[in-house]
Amino acid sequence: MAIETVLKMGDPRLLRKARPIEAFDTPELHELVSNMIETMKALDGAGLAAPQIGVDLQVVVFEVNANPRYPDVETIPLTVLINPVLAPTGDEMKEDWEGCLSIPGMRGLVPRYVKLHYSGFDIYGREIVKDVEGFHARVVQHECDHLFGVLYPMRIRDLRNFGYSSALFPEKRLPDE
Ligand code: NI
Repeated sequence: MAIETVLKMGDPRLLRKARPIEAFDTPELHELVSNMIETMKALDGAGLAAPQIGVDLQVVVFEVNANPRYPDVETIPLTVLINPVLAPTGDEMKEDWEGCLSIPGMRGLVPRYVKLHYSGFDIYGREIVKDVEGFHARVVQHECDHLFGVLYPMRIRDLRNFGYSSALFPEKRLPDE
C-alpha cells in the first residue's frame, strides 16, 4: 500500500474520461483500490476517484465517519464502486458546500440531485445496487463526476459561492486539504 500524490486542478489528467474496468479481482485492481483507500484516509477525504491519482479507470472509493473535513454530516460506510451508473430519482436538486482533494483549501456551493439510484460493481465483480439520498447521494455524484473529467467548480451556479475555506468558514477551522 502507498499514499499516492493527488493531482491538483489544472492537471489535464483530471479532465479525461475514465475507461471501464474489464477484469475484476486482479492483483493490479486490489493494489489500486488499497492505495486509493489509504490516500483518502491519510488526507481525511470523503472520497477519491482513480483519475485523481492519475489512473484513468472507473474506480471510486468513499467513506464518511466523523470526518474533520465534514464535521456536520451523516456517516457513509466504506464503499468501493467500479464502473458506476448513476440515475437520479426525481428532479429535486439542492445546493450544499463541497470540497475536493484536488482543490485543497477551497469550498464551493454545488447543486446535486437529492435522491439517487446507483449501480456498479465491487472489487470482486459483484453487483452493487443502491438508493441513497442527501450527503451520500452528493458524495457519489461528486466522485463519479471525476470519471467524466468534471470537477465541482464546473457545476457551481454562482462563482461568488466559491472560495477559501478559511475565509468562508473562519469559525470552523476546517483542514486545508
Ligand atoms: Ni473530488
